[in-house]
Amino acid sequence: MTEDIIVELKVKNPRVTEELTKVIASIEGFRLDKRFPDKPCDLLILEIGDDLKEEFKLIHTMQSSKKVGSIYLTSSRLEPEVLIEALRAGAREFFSQPIKVEEVRRALLKFKETRTKYTDGKAKKRKGKLIHIIGSKGGVGVTTIAVNLAAGLVGHDRSVALVDMNLTFSELPIFLDVKESFDWAEIGKNISRVDSTLLKSSLYKHPSGIFLLTSPTGLDGVNQTTPDTIGKLMEVMQSTFEYTIIDGGPLLEDLSLKIMETADTVIVVGVLNLLSLNNIKRLLWTFQNLGYPKKETIKIILNRYEKDPVLTVKESEQSIDHSFSWLIPNDFKTTMTAINLGKIILEVGKNTDISKSFRDLAASILGGSVPEKEKTGFWNKFKKTGL
Ligand SMILES: Nc1ncnc2c1ncn2[C@@H]1O[C@H](COP(=O)(O)OP(=O)(O)OP(=O)(O)O)[C@@H](O)[C@H]1O
Ligand SMILES: [Mg+2]
Repeated sequence: MTEDIIVELKVKNPRVTEELTKVIASIEGFRLDKRFPDKPCDLLILEIGDDLKEEFKLIHTMQSSKKVGSIYLTSSRLEPEVLIEALRAGAREFFSQPIKVEEVRRALLKFKETRTKYTDGKAKKRKGKLIHIIGSKGGVGVTTIAVNLAAGLVGHDRSVALVDMNLTFSELPIFLDVKESFDWAEIGKNISRVDSTLLKSSLYKHPSGIFLLTSPTGLDGVNQTTPDTIGKLMEVMQSTFEYTIIDGGPLLEDLSLKIMETADTVIVVGVLNLLSLNNIKRLLWTFQNLGYPKKETIKIILNRYEKDPVLTVKESEQSIDHSFSWLIPNDFKTTMTAINLGKIILEVGKNTDISKSFRDLAASILGGSVPEKEKTGFWNKFKKTGL
């Protein structure tokens, strides 16, 4: 997986912002991170000139926080003192204003070249995150959550694959209106030859941008696939995609357990009734006895949440001795419309609470915590910790 170079702009002048945005967008491998301005970035382009003392203090703080890889400066002021201070502060480039597009372009290409050499030299391979979703019962909403969480992550420009681990009834192709695609038993037959390029070209790419790996039809494919093969396949998935989401269905079996061994997050989906809560308790107990997944990687999502439930959230959390990380509202009409049209909820019900819930869920996974101003009304209605 080639990592994008994340660039952040702290520039007041709108014209300069517009020009820099255009140049950055025109070079493959750069991504402007607008949503989470306080997240770490590889390159910060900062405008100075209003209050040099404060600005250089800020540069120093950012450099020592290690949240910023490199800093480029831009200013409409060209006095020697500004340039000297910029050099002292360790700025790698200084763009005078008005911006010369070619100059910025050259600097960015140089940045990319240096970075490629550095990462190649270290043979650094980034590992994508593996999120395994399982149900505390059949029909609690695992496939709905897997599809729409994947769509939410794709909406944030992340590369995402969705894997169906339902061994008998594969429903992902119906949810996404996919007629034909390769399944993991077929790909697993040549596991020793499978690399990122082969994998990406074999998987079906949904118009939303999600890559899909289906489960085999019939039990032959399942029986031919060993946990070892699935483990190796997941390694390739993780080196290819930033996020691999597993629709694990409601069952624990050897193949799913193999994936769970290394999953970064295991989401258990429940609903507010005694059967589901009881099953969550049993699952947590089973995980504890197995020794994996670890408690801190297990997140419980409560689906089909309605206000004023018979069993309250607090009582339910106490009964399972685990808190819920997220609540997804009940919205049968939107979920059914999405399934019947073979579309994602984010598309058919753009302004519904359930759609916002999935968008915020994806944001919480990406950002750890989401800045106040990014939180939608839904978020404020149901306070949750996030994933
Ligand atoms: N938040 C929700 N609000 C209302 N209905 C929902 C919600 N989430 C899922 N559903 C409905 O519940 C049904 C089951 O959902 P889904 O197929 O996602 O569950 P599942 O856990 O994957 O089921 P299975 O165990 O059969 O694979 C579907 O009809 C779906 O529309
Ligand atoms: Mg399902």
